Amino acid sequence: MKLYEKSDTNIWSDSYIGKKMLGAHLDVESDAASRKADVINATINWILHPYDFPKTAIDLGCGPGLYTTKFSSRGWQVLGVDINKYSVEHANQESIARKLSAQHIEGSYLSPLNVGTFDLATCIYCDFGALVADDQQLFLRNVRMLLNKDGVLVLDVFGKGVSDTKTEGRYWNSEAAGNFWCNQPCYVLSECVHFHESHVWGEKHIIIPKSGKPFSTVIWTHYFTTDKITALLEKFGFEVLEINTDIVKKSDFISSDVIFVRARKI
Ligand SMILES: C[S@@+](CC[C@H](N)C(=O)[O-])C[C@H]1O[C@@H](n2cnc3c(N)ncnc32)[C@H](O)[C@@H]1O
Repeated sequence: MKLYEKSDTNIWSDSYIGKKMLGAHLDVESDAASRKADVINATINWILHPYDFPKTAIDLGCGPGLYTTKFSSRGWQVLGVDINKYSVEHANQESIARKLSAQHIEGSYLSPLNVGTFDLATCIYCDFGALVADDQQLFLRNVRMLLNKDGVLVLDVFGKGVSDTKTEGRYWNSEAAGNFWCNQPCYVLSECVHFHESHVWGEKHIIIPKSGKPFSTVIWTHYFTTDKITALLEKFGFEVLEINTDIVKKSDFISSDVIFVRARKI
């Protein structure tokens, strides 16, 4: 595997895997794709603690609206954006069913969104570190355009402890029909590589269905120090106001070494 090699399938927007992702988000027993309810509540409480009254927010990579609906029920005007149309549909249904004002649209935070500006932008579950380095820069430029003067970005990234949960190597599995990747029996060839200099792990899966075309996915997991994420945010026009490393106390999916950052647009 090469550093920042491209996937030929986007695991978030693929019509089959995207539905499986929605299922993973909604599994309350697991931290996979979305964190469990107690951590989500702690995250919301921390994000909102500096505010005396509700404002406007955009949640980038909102998934099925686990955060947007909570912002909304606390009086915030909130828009969720996600590339997974199944998650967006679910989030909007949930918002309507609960008589909330939260809205959700399908879109990519790597493209200009033209949805106005907000007091707060959030991107939760270490999505920022799943972006290749060029896309991290694109993301930060887009977020600046989505924020009002003095608007605030909250995001979380993995610390170096995520490396303790990963092992380099190659392996393969035989999967039955209806598995996570594909609706028919398949082989999955996997490779996990640590690119030490770039502080990123790459996990590549080549899925070979019983019939049909093989395809690949590559998942990047960057890890940061507080100095490194601070320097990156400063380079792109943000001032770090607050760091919190205590919100994710344990995770049964990836690591609990998670750094939350609150940064103001300058
Ligand atoms: C790990 S999940 C976290 C979802 C949500 N923040 C949560 O914690 O419940 C990452 C989310 O980002 C979305 N996503 C990935 N790339 C995206 C992009 N370029 N633009 C918008 N959303 C994206 C995925 O569809 C997925 O819902």
